[in-house]
Amino acid sequence: MAHKFSFHLPNPLRMGLLIAVLIGLFIGALAWFQIERERRNDLEEMDRRAYVLAHQMAYPAQVALQLPDSEATTAFGSMLEGYRRLIGLAVYRTDGRLVAAGKGVADFATVLRDAVGQTLAEGKDTVATQRTADAHLHLLVSVIRAPDGQPQGALAVLHDLVGLDERATHRQALFGFWIGFIVLSLLILTMAGAWLLYDRPLNRLAEWMRQLRTGDAAEAPPITLPVARLASESDRLAASFRAARTAHQEQARAVVRADNIWTRDRLRAHVVDCLRGGQLLVVSNREPYMHELRDGKPRLIVPAGGLVTALDPVLQACGGVWVAHGSGEADRQMADVQGRLAVPPDDPTYTLRRVWLTREEEQGYYYGFANEGLWPLCHLAHERPIFRAGDWEHYVRANRRFAETAIEEAGSGPAVVLVQDYQMALVPRFLKETRPDLAVGIFWHIPWPNPEAFRICPWAPDLLRGLLGADLIGFHLQQHCNNFLDTVDRMIEARLDWDHFAVELQGHVSRVRPFPISVESWTERHVLTGAELTRQIADLRERYELGDLRVAVGVDRIDYTKGLTERFRAVARFFERCPQYRGQFTFVQLGAPSRTHIPRYRNYINELEALADDINWRCQTESWKPIRFLIGHHDGVAVHAFLRMAEIGIVSSLHDGMNLVAKEFVAAKPDLDGVLILSEFAGAARELSDALIINPYDTEQFAEAIRRALEMPPEERQERMARMRRQVEENNIYRWAANLLADLTTVPISNPPTQETA
Ligand code: F6P
Repeated sequence: MAHKFSFHLPNPLRMGLLIAVLIGLFIGALAWFQIERERRNDLEEMDRRAYVLAHQMAYPAQVALQLPDSEATTAFGSMLEGYRRLIGLAVYRTDGRLVAAGKGVADFATVLRDAVGQTLAEGKDTVATQRTADAHLHLLVSVIRAPDGQPQGALAVLHDLVGLDERATHRQALFGFWIGFIVLSLLILTMAGAWLLYDRPLNRLAEWMRQLRTGDAAEAPPITLPVARLASESDRLAASFRAARTAHQEQARAVVRADNIWTRDRLRAHVVDCLRGGQLLVVSNREPYMHELRDGKPRLIVPAGGLVTALDPVLQACGGVWVAHGSGEADRQMADVQGRLAVPPDDPTYTLRRVWLTREEEQGYYYGFANEGLWPLCHLAHERPIFRAGDWEHYVRANRRFAETAIEEAGSGPAVVLVQDYQMALVPRFLKETRPDLAVGIFWHIPWPNPEAFRICPWAPDLLRGLLGADLIGFHLQQHCNNFLDTVDRMIEARLDWDHFAVELQGHVSRVRPFPISVESWTERHVLTGAELTRQIADLRERYELGDLRVAVGVDRIDYTKGLTERFRAVARFFERCPQYRGQFTFVQLGAPSRTHIPRYRNYINELEALADDINWRCQTESWKPIRFLIGHHDGVAVHAFLRMAEIGIVSSLHDGMNLVAKEFVAAKPDLDGVLILSEFAGAARELSDALIINPYDTEQFAEAIRRALEMPPEERQERMARMRRQVEENNIYRWAANLLADLTTVPISNPPTQETA
C-alpha cells in the first residue's frame, strides 16, 4: 500500500501565517497606492517645471526665430544648455528644421523630431514620457507663436527621468522592508498569542478529556479555557459521562447477576430489605381502582394510563398504602369513613386511601393547573399552556391535602413515600416540612422540557422548590434529568453538583436520576389464555366485524399528545398508496376518553371521530372499513386480547415521557409475531430500537412503515420482536421499582429545607 505523505502545519503557525499574509497583502496594497501617487506627483512637478521653462523661453525664442539660423544660434548663446535633470532645450522652425539646441539634446534628436512634427502638425503642445534604450525622458514641445498668433516654430524642453525612477525604487525598497518587518512581527505575535490563548489550553483540555476517558482525570476541566462556556459545558459533559459510566457499570454488574429477571417475589423481598420495618406509601392523583356508577350501581374500573399500569403491580407485590384522589362517582360509597378500602377488591394486597376534593378544587388543581398548564408545558405538542392564579391556589391547597393525608397514613413510624407525577410537584416539600425523617422520592412520568420552555410558568420557581423537597427525583430519560438540572440552574439559587447529578437547596440534597419505567409480564395478570383467549379474540372479531382481516392496533387515552390525527392520516395515506390492501387490513384504535371537562380534549374526540368517519366514507366498502375507532373504557382483559390479535402495534406520540403501550404490545407477543411502529418522540424509542421508528408528523414515512410492517418477512419480525421482548422482560416494572427504592433508601436522608413554603 502506498503511503501518503501528509504535511500538517501546527495550528498557531497556520493562524499566524493566515493573519500575517492577510495583513501583509493589505499593507502591500496600501504601499503600492502610495508609491504610485508619489510617482504621479513627481511627474506633475516635472510637467510644471517644463512649462515654466518653456514660458520663460517663449519670448527669446520668438525674437530669435525672426533672425536667420546663424544669428539665431548666436542669439540663444548658452540659454539652451541643460543643468541637473534638465537635458536641454531646442528650437525648431515651422517646417521642423532644428535652429539651435543644447549640447545634451543632440543624442535624442530622433525622439524629438517625431514629437516636434506632431506638435507642429496639430498646433498644440505635447507632453510625454519616453523610454529609449539607455534613458527615460520627459519632454515638452511647445508651439512658439508670433504676436499675431501664427505658429513661428517650436520649443522642446527635455528632462531626464532617471532620478525620479531612482526615488521610486528607493521608496519601494523602504516600504518592502517595513512590510516584511511588520508581517514577520505579526506572524510571531499571532503565533505566540494563538499558542498561549488557544493551543495550549485546548491541548490541556484534550489531555484532561483523555484522562477522563481512562478514569484518572481531575474533577474540573483546566481553568484557563479561552471560552467560559467551554469550561462549563465540559464540566457538564464530564458529569454526564461519569454518570453514564456509573450507570453502565451498575448495569454491567446487574447483567453479571445470574438471576437477571426481577419478579414480584424478588421485589417483595427486596422492598422488605429497603424499608427496614418502615411503611411504603405511594401518593398520586389517579387512583388505581375507581368506582363509577353504572345504572345506579357501583362499577369497578381500572383507569387507563401508564401510572396505574406501572405502580399497581408494585403495590400488589409489596403491600403498603396508595393515597390518591377519589374521583369516581361511587368512590365514597365504596370506601370507609376515612376513605380507605382494601384493593384489588377481589384479592386485596394493599390499602387505597382516597382523598376527597370538591368539584371546584378538582377543576382548579387537576383540570386547570395540572392539565391545562403543566401538561402542555412539558409536552412539545404545540398546545399553549394556560396558567390561572386561581388554579394555582387550588393546586397548592390540593397538594397540601395529599401531603397531610400521606403523613396521617405514615403514622409516627419510618416510611418511604413515592410521590407520583406532575400533579404532585409540591408534595415532597410539604411532606418534609412536617416529617423531615421520611424518605421521599418523586417520579415525574412526563417529559421535562428545556429551561426556556419551563420558565414561562409563572410559578416555576415554586414548583422547583417543591420538587427539591424530595431526596430523589426520577425521570424516564437522562435527557429529562439534564433539562431539570439546567432549569434549576437558571431559575433558582441552588448549588448544582453535575458530577453526582444532585442539587443542594438550603442544606438539603436531592439526587436526580433516570429510571425508565416499564410493565409487568401479561402472564402475571388476570387475562385469558389458551382456548379462552382464542374464543375471546374470535368474539371481538365478530363484534367489530373484523372477520379474518389483518389488524393493526393502537391503545391510547384520547389525548392530543398521542398523535392520533397523525395516525389516522397515515392509515388513510397507506390505503391510497397501497390500494391492494383494501378489504385485507384494518386499523383498530381503542380510545379511552380522558380529561373531557377540558374543551381541548372534548374537541379532540370530535375532531378524531370526524376524521375517522371521513376516511372511512372515502375508502370503505360494504363489508370493510379502514379504521375502527372504538371510543370507551376497555379493561385490561380486552386490551390484552386486542394486542394479541393485532400483528402491528402503533404508537405515534408527538411527545411522551415513556409510553407503556409500546412495551405492553411487546409483552403481549410471546409468539414473537408482531411489528411495533413507534414514534421517535416517545421515551420508549430509546429502548425499543427494533421497532419501526417513525416521525409521526411525516405522513409518507408513517404510511410506508405500515406497508413495511405488513410485508416484513417472518424471520425479521421474529428477530426484532425477540430482542425487544428480552429488553422488556429484563427491564420490567419490578426492576424499575427495585432500582428506585434502592436508590432512595441506601443514601442517608439529608436535612430538609424548612423555610419559604410554596
Ligand atoms: O403518565 C402521565 C399521566 O398523567 C399519569 O399521571 C396519569 O395517571 C395518566 O397519565 C392518565 O392521566 P389522567 O390520570 O389525567 O387520566
